[in-house]
Amino acid sequence: MPPKPKNGDAARNAATSIESVLKEKRVFKPSKAFAATAHISSFAAYERLYKLAEKNPDKYWSDVAGKYHWFKKWKKVSLWKEPHAKWFLGGTTNVCYNALDVHLTSGRKNKAALIWEGEPGDERTMTYSQLHREVCKFSNVLKKRGIGKGDRVAIYMGMVPELAIAMLACARLGATHNIIFGGFSSQALVDRINDAKAKMVICADGAFRRGQKINLKSAVDAALKDTPSVENVIVYQRTGETVTMAEGRDHWWHDLMNLAGDHCDAEPLDAEHPLFILYTSGSTGKPKGILHTTGGYMVHAANSHRMVFDLKDDDIYWCTADIGWVTGHSYVVYGPLINGATVFMYEGAPNYPDWGRFWSMIQRHRITIFYTAPTAIRAFIRAGDEWVNKFDLSSLRLLGTVGEPINPEAWMWYYTAIGKKKCPVVDTWWQTETGGIMISPLPGATPLKPGTATRPLPGISVDVVHKDGTPCKANEGGFLVVKRPWPSMLRTIYGDDERYKKQYWSDIAGMYFTGDGARKDKDGYIWIMGRVDDVVNVAGHRLGTSEVESALVAHARVAEAAVVAKPDELKGSALVAFVTLKSGGANPTLELKEELRNHVAREIGPIAKPDEIRFTEALPKTRSGKIMRRLLRELAGGGEVKGDVTTLEDFGILEKLRQNDDD
Ligand code: WTA
Repeated sequence: MPPKPKNGDAARNAATSIESVLKEKRVFKPSKAFAATAHISSFAAYERLYKLAEKNPDKYWSDVAGKYHWFKKWKKVSLWKEPHAKWFLGGTTNVCYNALDVHLTSGRKNKAALIWEGEPGDERTMTYSQLHREVCKFSNVLKKRGIGKGDRVAIYMGMVPELAIAMLACARLGATHNIIFGGFSSQALVDRINDAKAKMVICADGAFRRGQKINLKSAVDAALKDTPSVENVIVYQRTGETVTMAEGRDHWWHDLMNLAGDHCDAEPLDAEHPLFILYTSGSTGKPKGILHTTGGYMVHAANSHRMVFDLKDDDIYWCTADIGWVTGHSYVVYGPLINGATVFMYEGAPNYPDWGRFWSMIQRHRITIFYTAPTAIRAFIRAGDEWVNKFDLSSLRLLGTVGEPINPEAWMWYYTAIGKKKCPVVDTWWQTETGGIMISPLPGATPLKPGTATRPLPGISVDVVHKDGTPCKANEGGFLVVKRPWPSMLRTIYGDDERYKKQYWSDIAGMYFTGDGARKDKDGYIWIMGRVDDVVNVAGHRLGTSEVESALVAHARVAEAAVVAKPDELKGSALVAFVTLKSGGANPTLELKEELRNHVAREIGPIAKPDEIRFTEALPKTRSGKIMRRLLRELAGGGEVKGDVTTLEDFGILEKLRQNDDD
């Protein structure tokens, strides 16, 4: 247990807190009908469970872990020597066994595990039994190529079932997978393969994206000139385009699978055996290899998935995240498969061939649970309701979001236009580092307020504190921390334990610092105010830029907004808002600029009024959809963009933003 924070001095804290200004009063209680069949069906039941877990966390997590299959039971639930945690010590298990084998002896053997739709419209369905067979065969392929326990395997593919098969096969053998998002460049591949010293690369010839074929193998070929650790490459044929195969090094997936046997036992692995490394960008140059291990990750990914999505056996569950991000690891593959869910998976872009694609798939596949990102929701708002209204979305019963704060107005649109006011919206807060959802409503229990991830899950102890670790008062902005280790906590930054300590355990004594600013309202609901580096100080007021963004998005003509600070002699910082308008009718006029500035002043107060509004066709985003505020800060400050832009999705946007400079 971390030491209890000492009482701090209020004057010192005043300079290290964040002012919060967003006001949101709407509350939506779970409907009786939803609560009646929910796993956790009242707020009182949630609070009881939460208190129980706080009283005896080890007992709580031990009970949760007992739901899954272990080859050997653990001797000790947790061990904490700051900053290193171990969970389920002495226990052995296998995540792949829990995701597949356990269902073969239950009624789920012939249930669809994956329903997949390719971007061109091709479809595949695999039952648990079929998926198990493919994974066993591919595990044998890996073994034959010298892959075993402890080896690192890099995976670089589009969203095809074989990506899930490859990662499950690694998990089956105890090889540590390192999935690199299919949209990354060959330089990103070099950095990640070398940092992890991967022995093998599994890739595809290409992927379909917005009607185009993206060649993945050529990026691998370029990367492999500088990655001495790689011995073999296995290439899955998806697009059928011509690729170069290096004799002796490169092998076709289908050739090797044709020769592979379909029996392969899952390896019993120590609970602390490394399951995967996933790279995430830090605020500075070098990506961080977030390391997750086997037992604790499995327990929380699966349990949080069942609780938050209130999973039932007849659900058809769709999380739109790419498997190349942590959301895809935990909530496309591991969590849902361990729970025996039917997972829908889609290969391509949300607007191909048009903005109706997602809604058409929900209608055709009768999706019941839909989990996506605020950035996608705002894009759909912008495209217009007519795309949504063409389709029957009545199969939906639950909606979720993840990845960034959802503006209350975008939440309301999601709830109304997609959920038709009958689906709870679970706004889930978590990070690559946390492995699984930490703060989220439970849909049958928690009254919802648009814009907040509400309360922590049972077993998770979060708080909003001052720099010295003392708790903030209700509605006072501060730093979001986790006060006690949890099973799916990252174990370290791969190969850089010093950076791990510094990044997460040195800002606030005895607590894991998330890097996010937040406030807790009087009901204990956590309102995320964005990363602390997105916090700005305007005329002595520290403001979360996401709150100003929410106010802008609440204006009828605004689709999306990103607010950054630029240095200002008078006020310390001035706010610059980059704004995209909804299509149809909204002209980027000077009058509209004034109207928007006044609108923010009305919504929040004159201190938050942006000094400058710049209209733009699009905002620069990472491939996972996060707005690259760092680039906007550099542009707003009048300077050149100097930092690393390898994760930017569309380089053209930077040029357009520069041109709009002197509007
Ligand atoms: C942000 C994604 C507000 C937050 C799973 C966090 C959110 C970072 C939410 C982690 C949410 C994620 N509300 N902010 N519901 N979910 N974030 O590692 O700033 O890609 O620290 O993990 O996204 O991003 P990551």
